[in-house]
Amino acid sequence: MAANILLETENLVRTFGPTRAVDGLSFQIRAGEMVGLVGPDGAGKTTAIRLLCGALQPTRGMIRVAGYQVPAQVEKAREEIGYLAQRFSLYGDLTVKENLDFFGEVFDIPGAEREQRSQELLRFAGLSEFQNRPAAALSGGMQKKLGLACALVHRPKVLLLDEPTGGVDPVARQEFWHLLIGLLREGSAVLVSTPYMDEAMRFHRVIFMNHGRALTQDAPRALMARLSGRILELAAEPQMTARDIAVQDPEVEDVHSFGGYLHLRVSSADGPMKRIPEKLASAGISVTHLIPVAPTLEDVFIQLLETEGEGNGNPIPSAA
Ligand SMILES: Nc1ncnc2c1ncn2[C@@H]1O[C@H](COP(=O)(O)OP(=O)(O)O)[C@@H](O)[C@H]1O
Ligand SMILES: [Mg+2]
Repeated sequence: MAANILLETENLVRTFGPTRAVDGLSFQIRAGEMVGLVGPDGAGKTTAIRLLCGALQPTRGMIRVAGYQVPAQVEKAREEIGYLAQRFSLYGDLTVKENLDFFGEVFDIPGAEREQRSQELLRFAGLSEFQNRPAAALSGGMQKKLGLACALVHRPKVLLLDEPTGGVDPVARQEFWHLLIGLLREGSAVLVSTPYMDEAMRFHRVIFMNHGRALTQDAPRALMARLSGRILELAAEPQMTARDIAVQDPEVEDVHSFGGYLHLRVSSADGPMKRIPEKLASAGISVTHLIPVAPTLEDVFIQLLETEGEGNGNPIPSAA
């Protein structure tokens, strides 16, 4: 295995009938790295993660986890994998502690060590004081933390977390990310899927996924730098009319709404900055501001989607 690469795929493909759920995915993740698989519903995130943990057979392509080939050496690989499914299930009737003990048994951890590990993970997840509560009676955020703790019982080096923050309140989300940062310090490699663009800033690297393919993979700041100077924020009323006018400017590539504003992606800023306020004024539209702003990852994702659409004439429908 190349230096500290813990998770690796090459040209990974998985089809379901006519649907190419994962369509030629290649990436490498090293110890200490947290990488985000970011994309909308149906992008192929869950399929990719299930392939990585050997729950699904690939149609073709290479998977290596902690140096082991999957599926050929899946048993060995699984000893190194902590997997949190998108819809994981705890044993609701069992207490928090009993759930942890149960997973310790599943992973064949001997009694005394199991007890120690359960206590360690209760502390890690901040659940010590809830250890006797039935899992079903925990809040959503606490259930996710318990799910994570259960996935860590056997001290895996590789964590595969499928939308771990889905349906969780902002405070619990924050706590969850905190736990992951602790694990990275111990040298784990973490792959997290999420549909939320605002979470993508947290990753060392982002793999933007759509229709089973990686549109790009890079550090969040590097991705945003690609659009530096090319996003203008427009606040104008009525917004729909402002949009129709802005989109006609020859140097405006795309307009989308962003919070209460419009984001204009421009090939160059000077022309639109001059022309658009004039056009809006003569159409009787009131403009609060038109200013260059720092691009967001959502701007980047939208641009990539368009480039993909134009670039390779993708014949594959969104099968979601
Ligand atoms: N077991 C399955 N049978 C048929 N199609 C599936 C199956 N699992 C996933 N798909 C399809 O594969 C695509 C990717 O799905 P999925 O990996 O669940 O995406 P995501 O997790 O990003 O929402 C979707 O079009 C989905 O309908
Ligand atoms: Mg999914």
